[in-house]
This record gives sequence, structure tokens and C-alpha cells, in this order.
Amino acid sequence: MGTALIVLAAGLGTRMNSDLPKVLHEIGGAPLLHHAMAAGMALEPSRMIVVAGHGAEAVERAATGFDAGVVTVRQESQDGTGHAVRQARAALEGFSGDVIVLYGDTPFIRPETLEAMRRARTRADVVVLGFEAADPGRYGRLVTSGDRLERIVEFKDADAATRAITLCNSGVIAADRETLFELLDQVTNDNAAGEYYLTDIVGLAREAGLGAEVVRCDEAETLGINTRAELAAAEAAFQSRARAEAMEDGVTLVAPETVSFARDTVVGRDTVIEPNVVFGPGVTVESGARVRAFSHLEGCHVSRGATVGPFARLRPGAELAEEVHIGNFVEIKNAQIGTGAKINHLTYLGDADIGAGTNVGAGTITCNYDGVFKHRTTVGRDAFIGSNTMLVAPVTLGDGAMTATGTVVTHNVPAGDMAVGRARQDNKPGFATRFFEKLRAAKAAKSKGE
Ligand code: UD1
Ligand code: CA
Repeated sequence: MGTALIVLAAGLGTRMNSDLPKVLHEIGGAPLLHHAMAAGMALEPSRMIVVAGHGAEAVERAATGFDAGVVTVRQESQDGTGHAVRQARAALEGFSGDVIVLYGDTPFIRPETLEAMRRARTRADVVVLGFEAADPGRYGRLVTSGDRLERIVEFKDADAATRAITLCNSGVIAADRETLFELLDQVTNDNAAGEYYLTDIVGLAREAGLGAEVVRCDEAETLGINTRAELAAAEAAFQSRARAEAMEDGVTLVAPETVSFARDTVVGRDTVIEPNVVFGPGVTVESGARVRAFSHLEGCHVSRGATVGPFARLRPGAELAEEVHIGNFVEIKNAQIGTGAKINHLTYLGDADIGAGTNVGAGTITCNYDGVFKHRTTVGRDAFIGSNTMLVAPVTLGDGAMTATGTVVTHNVPAGDMAVGRARQDNKPGFATRFFEKLRAAKAAKSKGE
């Protein structure tokens, strides 16, 4: 039997003080929602439902952008977590099996923990993920007797004795679909918040003679984000974990604390990452590459043995083949760079194909945008692009072609030819000496007169 996941993401997140729905704030370059969804996806669920409300359109776009198979449903008014889960009922029609409810604002939940909850379901009808809180604050409290979970009491509704409990509700709950919705039907909003609490299903389950159990996890895992300060702390926690993982995987980080990873960054063994490198989303760096200081990479692929930077920028669609050299102040966007090609200084290549072994001189620019359309530049193998060449796209240069320094290439260059397109130089003998003598004399006459 399969598992279905419901991700709650309808809340506003008042304390973020933001126009952006809370779940769309980012850690590691990805919305909180994607982190939660990724943990859930590791269970290979047969269905995933995201409940959207505040900023629904943007949340839905983010959800389906992460995985097109995700179903989104709307909770028009945010009447509580129980009410939110009810909105998923229709989307789970015809599904039989376990449902796990997750929060979109809880990014660090580990797939292993969700797996443990799934296993615990063989012992209990309702399984709740709990944790020992250092500061239980406003979390819901788990009331247990021995191994059994009796009920969950929300902070607002708790008396002093219950508030003294340190075992808290993470929010993650698992139950069989039928059981979940039967229990939810009985949930009322007769409580301090006037909300339909998902947490009430535990007490209701016990009253019906069903079993409930707690699976425990580390508090760090259930960390929810409610404020910008918590977002920043979560980012720091994410980064230190990502750095540690990279090093464990055999990546050298010269100054780990200065490197910023994204949720999906992949770096191969024996690659060296120098200080102050930033990885945006969608980057893969193969083994034995070197990313030098102050480089910024996103949506790109760097193959084995390539070097990038210092001060390089790889933008989405940059594909570097093996042994490519990208040097300082070079920007590459939507371009394939062939094996061993060298682009070492002050260059912009956008919407281009550069053949293997080609050398691109300093200051080369693909003029890829005419103000309305983008155009492609194609350069063959073993070509030599002279410094300060403007490649006015669309344009094609053949294998082994060459451009003279300072050339503005406006039409194709056949293989083996050289393009030269610049004003011919003309020397004026003695001009510079006479010119400056005249100017200096004029200056001397002027200061005498003053
Ligand atoms: C909830 C739990 C509490 C637990 C805590 C852990 C309930 C009643 N309380 O409290 O026991 O300790 O989480 O963080 O479940 N949401 C909706 N629609 C709603 C309300 C909430 O989608 O109508 C979503 C929010 O976007 C958020 C999640 O549910 O992702 C949790 O909501 P929140 O209001 O933060 O719950 P807490 O009061 O923190
Ligand atoms: Ca919360």
C-alpha cells in the first residue's frame, strides 16, 4: 500500500512581516516548501497534496514547479491545521493507505524520520512526531502514559501542569486515510483559538479505542520558521550541514564558512572550492574540478577537471566540458563550452556554442541580444578568437577560424579563415612629440599671464 503526503502551506506567517507567503521564503536558494516536499518525495509517495491559501497562486506555482505531479488544493480561510487537512479530502478520493501530514514551513525534516513514522504505523493507528524541546514555548504538548500518546494539548488551551510537559508536537502526523478523515469529521473549533486543530484527532482516536504513539526526533529537525531571525538561523544551520556533507563526500573547501550552497548543489570528489564561492540552484560540478575564489554559479554544469574563476559567473545553461578553463571576470550564460576550451579573461558568452580546444581572447563579447530577440553564436573547434572581438549574433565561425583583435564579426567566418574587421592603423611620424610640445607651451604662456 502506498503513502500519500499532505503538505500544509496555507498560513500567512504574520511574524515574517512579509508580502511573500512564508513557505516561499528561501533557504539554500530554494523555498521552504521545496525542502519539505523533498523530504516527503524521498518516501516515493503515490500522491502529494499541497494545501495553499495565502498567496495561493504563487505557492501553487512553486509546488508544481518542484514536481508536476503534485496536486494543489485551496484552503480559502485559515481556520486551523485540521481544517487545512480536510481540504485534501477530495484529492485523496480513491486512495487507500497511509497519509502523512507535513508543514511547508518545517524544512529540515529528514526522510529517515518520516520512514520511522511509517514503520510505527504498524503498531499504532495515529503516529505523531514529537521532540523534547529545550524551550517548549508555545508548542502543543504531548500528553502520554508510558509509550502511549493520550492527547495533544495546544499551548493556549493548556493548564500549568500541561505546560510543564517538555515533549512537544512537531506537527507531523501519520494515519490511515480513512481513519484520518473520520477523526477529522469529529474535530470542532471549540477552543482558545477558535480553530479546527489537527492535533485533536489524537484524543478522539483514544476515545474511539484506537492506539496512538509518538516517534521522537531531534529538535533541530522540526525547526519551524516563523520570523526572519529564525530564517537566518535556519540558513546558517543549512549551510553548515551542507558544508560538512560536501567535505565528507571528498570535496575540499578551503574556507568552508565562506562557501554558500543551494539545496540541490552536487559537487564531485576531489573538487576544490576556494573561499567565497556562491552556489545558486541547479549546479553540478564533477570530480577534480576547481572553483576559484569569489565565483558565482547557478543552473550550470562543470565537468571533470575544469577550472572556474576567480571572479567568474556561470549563469543558467552554462555547460562546461572537461578541462575547460574559465578565468577572471568571465560570464557564461546558456552556452556549451567544448573540451579544453579556454576563456580566461573579461568575457561574456551568452547563447553560444564554443568548440573543443578553442581559445577565446580577453574582452570577447557575444552580442546576443538585439533588444527584442536573443541570437546564437557558434564557434567551431580549435578556433582562435582575438582579444576584444565582438561576435554579433547570429553568427557562425568554422573550425580553426580566427578573428583579428578588435574585430566586429557581423557575418560568418568559414573554417580556417581569418576575419579582420577594424580600421586600418595609420602612423603619423613625430606627431605625438609636436602635439605635446604645443600644449605644454600653451600652458606655460597661460600661467605667466595670470
Ligand atoms: C502547530 C500545532 C502545534 C505544534 C506546532 C509545531 C496545531 C493545532 N498546532 O501549531 O501543536 O506544536 O504546530 O510547529 O496543529 N496552516 C494551514 N492552514 C491553517 C493553519 C495552519 O495551512 O489554517 C499551516 C501553516 O501554513 C503552517 C502549519 O500549518 O505550515 C502550522 O501552522 P501554525 O499556525 O504555524 O501552527 P502552530 O500554531 O505553530
Ligand atoms: Ca508555527
